[in-house]
Amino acid sequence: MEKVFTVTLQGGKTTDVFFADSIKDLSSKLSSYGLNALWVFDTNTAPLFKNLPPNRIVLESGEKSKNWKSIERIISAALDFHLARDSYFIAFGGGVVCDMTALASSLYMRGTKLILVPTTLLCMVDASVGGKTAIDYAGAKNLIGTFNPAQDVLISSDVLRTLSESEYISGLGEVLKHAILSDNEDLYNFLVNNKDKVLNRDRATVTEMVKLSIAVKNNYIERDPEEKKGIRSALNLGHTFAHALESITHFSGISHGKAVAWGCGRAFEASYELGLIDEAFYKKVSSLFEMYPFDMSYRVGRGEWLDFQEAIGKDKKRMSGNVKFVLIEGFGKPVLKPLDMKLVQRIVIASPRIK
Ligand SMILES: NC(=O)c1ccc[n+]([C@@H]2O[C@H](COP(=O)([O-])OP(=O)(O)OC[C@H]3O[C@@H](n4cnc5c(N)ncnc54)[C@H](O)[C@@H]3O)[C@@H](O)[C@H]2O)c1
Repeated sequence: MEKVFTVTLQGGKTTDVFFADSIKDLSSKLSSYGLNALWVFDTNTAPLFKNLPPNRIVLESGEKSKNWKSIERIISAALDFHLARDSYFIAFGGGVVCDMTALASSLYMRGTKLILVPTTLLCMVDASVGGKTAIDYAGAKNLIGTFNPAQDVLISSDVLRTLSESEYISGLGEVLKHAILSDNEDLYNFLVNNKDKVLNRDRATVTEMVKLSIAVKNNYIERDPEEKKGIRSALNLGHTFAHALESITHFSGISHGKAVAWGCGRAFEASYELGLIDEAFYKKVSSLFEMYPFDMSYRVGRGEWLDFQEAIGKDKKRMSGNVKFVLIEGFGKPVLKPLDMKLVQRIVIASPRIK
């Protein structure tokens, strides 16, 4: 496997990100961690593994299992397998499996070694890098968590073949967001020029896209490893709009990544309305999202506005009484600003002023 990034995080901790040429390449790297390991799968990712390792636990798939009970199950399994502090916890799954394994790893005997093998596009470009761990609690998403970066993240685009179309497109929403947050146009141009190969999950194309995407996230993390300068908050571009949309559709009508893509579109509109970007730039960034299967013209119904507004108020990025939206002034130039609710109402309900 090729080591492509070393991400430096809070407290100088580092994560090495490796890319596999093939499943064989991934398997041989995984065997190098030895038998002193606990493997965590979910019911959809366990079948992807031919010879399942004996020290394993298979959790129910999906956000519904991202809870204390699963953490207890992981920790009990580690105990049953007599694992000590020097053992590895190896997550093989999407963001849910990776977030939970990382949290359990930080708690078991005050911390084991952690390896993440992301199996969704979203997890590859977002959840596996950055050191955040979490479970949902008392109805609040990611309420309980620790900071525990993986020692290694192992990426193989081959594992994405079995991923559903809707989960793949959801991951693309975060990739497109990274294209706008990048201070160069490499990822933007790559996505424009390779649309068909991206959508057909061509192996080499997906690998290159994931590398370009992680490079963008890495750039924000490394400039603000302690998350104190507000630089890392830029990675929430589109998210305040997205969380409110997910909330009013009760998390069932639209995937997270699709909501993020839609939210990015609304952030571009707000940026244009405030004069932060000109019409040419607005059209340039919007056209990327329109090329891909995202419903950018979706509008919130007038009758849903009050719920939408309330959901925005609950967004966790609320600071000093103000909800700050991530807006843009250009490629790689995010700015955090509160927005007038009348403007928000107009851009989520009415058709955009520029076509
Ligand atoms: N830690 C972070 O920084 C961070 C960042 C972003 C998101 N997250 C978290 O990540 C989670 C979302 O991650 P996700 O989108 O990967 O969801 P997920 O882990 O639920 O995976 C989505 C679905 O795809 C299935 N799946 C996974 N890999 C597969 C494969 N290769 N083939 C077939 N099916 C497969 C899963 O079983 C699940 O049903 C959320 O809980 C979110 O809070 C964390």
